[in-house]
Amino acid sequence: MPRHLLEIDDLSRDELVSVLDLARQPYVPKALAGLGVALLFEKPSARTRNSMEMAVFQLGGHPVTIRPDEIGLGTRESVEDVTRTLQCYHGVIAARVFEHTKLERMVAVADVPIINLLSDAGHPMQALADLLTAVELYGGIDALSSRKIAYVGDGNNVCRSLALAAGMLGMQVAVATPETFTMPADDVARLRAVGIEPVVTTDAAEAVEGADIVYTDAWYSMGQEAEADERRPVFRPYQVNAELLAATGVADVAFLHCLPAHRGDEVSDDVLDGPHSRVWQQAENRMHAARGLLAWIIGAS
Ligand code: CP
Ligand code: NVA
Repeated sequence: MPRHLLEIDDLSRDELVSVLDLARQPYVPKALAGLGVALLFEKPSARTRNSMEMAVFQLGGHPVTIRPDEIGLGTRESVEDVTRTLQCYHGVIAARVFEHTKLERMVAVADVPIINLLSDAGHPMQALADLLTAVELYGGIDALSSRKIAYVGDGNNVCRSLALAAGMLGMQVAVATPETFTMPADDVARLRAVGIEPVVTTDAAEAVEGADIVYTDAWYSMGQEAEADERRPVFRPYQVNAELLAATGVADVAFLHCLPAHRGDEVSDDVLDGPHSRVWQQAENRMHAARGLLAWIIGAS
């Protein structure tokens, strides 16, 4: 049976640790030798496409990126038939989709690993890079259990995967969102199922108190651009700025953002470009984390 990664808790805690270890080790340049990796995108991407392509290249495989207009997942051809076709040529299929159910439909007919490159439900490849960055910042996986991460903003795909990953490694997790954009109750239940009791609040200052990492993401995700003007006033109290970072009371607090950032919305320029920001280290880690995940996922196929 192939391994798949649709959400971070598809990995056990030990498997998550193994992936992060693989991401930090010198890599085997032949791990994907002779294999193609299909990278299918229904939405734009800078980091995910480039980090995945380079990770595949570094492991000796061949990435084939498929742009949103090329395959028509579920329009030109059914999700299942696209999957059956791509696995004739590729050892791994990875996809960025609007509806998470498309990934589940791929898994149902796949005999190669399926990787979620972002869906409406989650962004596990991002969470791997986020945790890798935390491991680097604090000197190892074991060091994370004494650390707190606070996510402030929209209770979205990035928020969910991050909270799961951080909680699985023993971090204290706090999430502050507006009332109407909170993580759904079943997401909180999913956190509890892996032993995580997050602080869920509408108060950004409460969430960040004592936080070693403050994290945010766009107030409106890809596909929600038409809601931007309506959302901005609701989210304004959740902007990560110098005042909110100061509210942590943690002198060396780190700021993370999955990017792309909407400067002046969810984050101020002085924070994004300032001394607490680790966003470029985090962006680089997308490639190392992707390599770790690919090496792990191919291991059992
Ligand atoms: N963080 C992230 O997934 O960026 P892209 O949308 O540019 O891939
Ligand atoms: N939440 C954002 C993340 C982008 C990497 C989106 O889904 O568009």
